[in-house]
Amino acid sequence: RYRDLNAEDKMNPFAEQEAWEEHQIGKATLKFGSKNKKQVSDDYQYVFEDQIDFIKASVMEGDKFDYEEMEDSHEKSKAKSAFEALQEERKKLPMFPYRDELLEAVHNHQVLVIVGETGSGKTTQIPQYLHEAGYTKRGMIACTQPRRVAAMSVAARVSQEMGVKLGHEVGYSIRFEDCTSEKTILKYMTDGMLLREFLGEPDLASYSVVMVDEAHERTLSTDILFGLVKDIARFRPDLKLLISSATLDAEKFSDYFDSAPIFRIPGRRYPVEISYTKAPEADYLDAAIVTSLQIHVTQPPGDILVFLTGQEEIETAEEILKHRTRGLGTKISELIICPIYANLPTELQAKIFEPTPEGARKVVLATNIAETSLTIDGIKYVIDPGFCKMKSYNPRTGMESLLVTPISKASANQRAGRSGRTGPGKCFRLYTAYNYHNDLDDNTVPEIQRTNLANVVLTLKSLGIHDLLNFDFMDPPPAEALLKALELLFALSALNKLGELTKVGRRMAEFPLDPMLSKMIVASENYKCSDDIISIAAMLSVGNSIFYRPKDKQVHADNARLNFHTGNVGDHMALLKVYNSWKETNYSTQWCYENYIQVRSMKRARDIRDQLAGLLERVEIELTSNANDLDAIKKSITSGFFPHSARLQKNGSYRTVKHSQTVHIHPSSGLAQVLPRWVVYHELVLTTKEYMRQVTELKPEWLVEIAPHYYQLKDVEDSYSKKMPRGAGLPS
Ligand code: CDP
Ligand code: MG
Repeated sequence: RYRDLNAEDKMNPFAEQEAWEEHQIGKATLKFGSKNKKQVSDDYQYVFEDQIDFIKASVMEGDKFDYEEMEDSHEKSKAKSAFEALQEERKKLPMFPYRDELLEAVHNHQVLVIVGETGSGKTTQIPQYLHEAGYTKRGMIACTQPRRVAAMSVAARVSQEMGVKLGHEVGYSIRFEDCTSEKTILKYMTDGMLLREFLGEPDLASYSVVMVDEAHERTLSTDILFGLVKDIARFRPDLKLLISSATLDAEKFSDYFDSAPIFRIPGRRYPVEISYTKAPEADYLDAAIVTSLQIHVTQPPGDILVFLTGQEEIETAEEILKHRTRGLGTKISELIICPIYANLPTELQAKIFEPTPEGARKVVLATNIAETSLTIDGIKYVIDPGFCKMKSYNPRTGMESLLVTPISKASANQRAGRSGRTGPGKCFRLYTAYNYHNDLDDNTVPEIQRTNLANVVLTLKSLGIHDLLNFDFMDPPPAEALLKALELLFALSALNKLGELTKVGRRMAEFPLDPMLSKMIVASENYKCSDDIISIAAMLSVGNSIFYRPKDKQVHADNARLNFHTGNVGDHMALLKVYNSWKETNYSTQWCYENYIQVRSMKRARDIRDQLAGLLERVEIELTSNANDLDAIKKSITSGFFPHSARLQKNGSYRTVKHSQTVHIHPSSGLAQVLPRWVVYHELVLTTKEYMRQVTELKPEWLVEIAPHYYQLKDVEDSYSKKMPRGAGLPS
């Protein structure tokens, strides 16, 4: 039935088109037993952007817990009893009975591996225990998290538990946002931020303890941190190192850290009954919907958690579920449908955490955000179709893509475990027991083995680590991917022929951005347009959440968007126009509403822009605007993104200049109907086709001018254009 819904989407030239196409690739690649199964912890670069306001709202509430400072005595006693209730809750955590034993182990060993199930209190309690035991007298305690939203929400929680204002004793640090102060002793931060701290302080002298948390997630930054902290622990005997993980497979961590002892926190887990399907499901989405309804109609009370792969799938499931429950009649109790995915508006996110009303049942449709990062109370049934979206990287072409792939056994078990947190649970796996035992990998392939390494290589180089092939990786990346990264950094002039960091490279490393973006910014000095370029970089860093397109006002929204594309200036310039127009209205919210622009994204872009301006000052690049010189701005973009250039083909598709890969302009691009002969793009997204997103026209001779070591004249010979005038046969 959902195919009908999708047929409608297919008519739609913009974002929704992806929904339909995503199912198609889903179907094409969704085969158990294919050797292409890895799992990713979603693309946490921008996954949680929209949750930030939500977290901030809870942070504001956290302020109330600073009850000693309160004037109103009634409010004060209310806050005080809430605070005391929190202290009682702390004592009920599985971690609590092991407090002293843990402190003793930390005292006796420099490196400790800590294992305990999600929810046992590792993240929130251990740093507090260490603080209570006096470790913060010698320096801060760092606790790393793979996800920004986790760093923020955990810091907020711990500040409440300690009765202090967030940002004072307890703070967090994530990219583009530092919520700490001189007072801070417990610092929750993304793993990427701790990595960046090495740049300023290679021995992490201001820390007494480093806790690499959620180590099982094996993100790229966590893996690099392992190598760096292991190294500094050797010459800093006073530094305590904790590696904490939710999975039982801790020997690997222990082996890597020279047989560090393992501290196991016995979990409290209720039994989970696991069922499999008898035969493979042809259509897992439909199977998940049918199973949800069956549970709802036949099973005792308890909420349902369904793991799906992305927003489009979740929206489809939501619509079908709504449609089908309408027909159930009044005898069946209410089914509350709660989607949770990256771009879900903040107001709707709170719904997931609201307790289910008496007599009703909640069904949570989630991406694998709900696997370890997010705990939803009341879940008794888990439906696991066995898939997730995962990033993969092709070192030959340098292309990254998100693919729907089967999960690992570890992931499947983690998912099942979500149903047994507060009582016995049931997990319905929409695949066969044979599939589980024979087709799923034991563990997820670590990110370092399936990602672009350019950023990490640049960071390591700026830390003075030159011999990357012999770096102490827990699992080494493919040599090909390392070489590819070195090659790209050389092409961007960040490294010289000997692989040493150049002045350009050193400047680039100051920016917490992808090297191509950093290069675009550094190069803007030459074109006197740094002021414009950082606006563009900030807008690109916000992700694809600038414009919104409500279903009932699509035409209006599209017209508003196209206004910024007058003159076919390209998507980068359109982003700059949006930013500058917003600035001219004195950052008006009303203006955003009128133009179908998300004010939250714009505010974030402004914050990022401010920081980039500060970093420009640090690398001594003057802030100059050259907004009327379109070519100057385009050349700066090309200086960073020349590897992402493509040429139009006769059939309206494009071919990348370097690797001759067929690509297309994304339907949401302002140039989608214009089809310039040569383009430079920001990124590729793979649905049924490889789409270029954020596209700008380019003159081919720039490629040779800007990157003579990367392109030769023959690469940019414009033979096709001689035969066919620009835009021929296409509506202009
Ligand atoms: O790290 P681990 O998964 O072992 O547990 P934790 O994150 O320290 O969480 C312990 C408990 O604190 C959870 O079960 C929640 O009840 C509570 N918590 C919370 O209410 N809000 C948060 N942001 C984090 C934790
Ligand atoms: Mg944790």
